[in-house]
Amino acid sequence: MVNILFLFLYLSTLNLNVQSLDSGTENLNGLNNANPTDQSMLWPFVKIHFKDQQVQSPIDILKQCSYELSISSLLYYDYWRDESVLIKIINNGQALYVHTLHFGYQSRYLEIENKLAIITGGPLFDSLYEFNRMYFYWGDVGECGSENQMNDQFYAMEVQMVHFKQEYGSYENATRYDDGICIVSFFGQISDEDNIDLKNLVTNLNVIQTSDQYLVGRFNNYFSWLLPIAEENQYYTFPGSLTKDPYTQCVIWIVYKNTFKISQTQLSTFRTLVGSDQQMITSTKRREIQPLNNRPLCWT
Ligand SMILES: *[C@@H]1O[C@H](CO)[C@@H](O)[C@H](O)[C@H]1NC(C)=O
Repeated sequence: MVNILFLFLYLSTLNLNVQSLDSGTENLNGLNNANPTDQSMLWPFVKIHFKDQQVQSPIDILKQCSYELSISSLLYYDYWRDESVLIKIINNGQALYVHTLHFGYQSRYLEIENKLAIITGGPLFDSLYEFNRMYFYWGDVGECGSENQMNDQFYAMEVQMVHFKQEYGSYENATRYDDGICIVSFFGQISDEDNIDLKNLVTNLNVIQTSDQYLVGRFNNYFSWLLPIAEENQYYTFPGSLTKDPYTQCVIWIVYKNTFKISQTQLSTFRTLVGSDQQMITSTKRREIQPLNNRPLCWT
């Protein structure tokens, strides 16, 4: 309660500052020399300046272009617990894809009313963002599979959890707003040994080897391996876009600095997934890296 009150006070202060700015462009150009404690520079309030500026994704997240932001922790509800949110993991013919089961799951044996998984806090302040879908990126060969880069480096895998701002009611409606979508991203790095926490997901990939096959389960059963990274709470955050057509600039990106481990053997299991064209599913069609364009790039 005290935290929420604090956020409201904080928000009103920031709004006052934003209103007193004459020209956003002028301010953004001066970003590199900016005093990082100048609150008018803080994301997400600079978003009002992006109307005519390109803040496209993916990007190369460069430490030397970022500044430290001191904000509250990102909070997760119903991701990593026994009764966590129900998800469907599907090979949709083009990609490995996860979405939440909104209306619960019914089968002959069980009927469960699903709950929603929510994030809030951090750069989202007191707004609630509902977990909606997940994307996975890996390469067909080698160790470059991620969409974004961090300090000029690609990673073997990138897992993106996509959320929409709850007050906009749906993913589709939220994409019409600057702050509509929040993508939380995790990088995977090659390790010599198997990551045992990945075992349940990797083993079950053989059930969805070909197009239109799917699995239903609880988030925590398949994605417990993301928890330690979220707990470290060290991430970059910046405004950007969807990485697929129509590339709408509606995304608050949160990209964790710490990575999960994945062995070559485990990665090769992802590479056995086959799409509707009978070819290997990969992210080789991923979008090229977009310019930073002096957007605010913050870390915590
Ligand atoms: C989209 O979100 C706005 C803001 O919350 C809301 O007023 C509007 O009714 C929503 N539109 C649809 C189609 O859901």
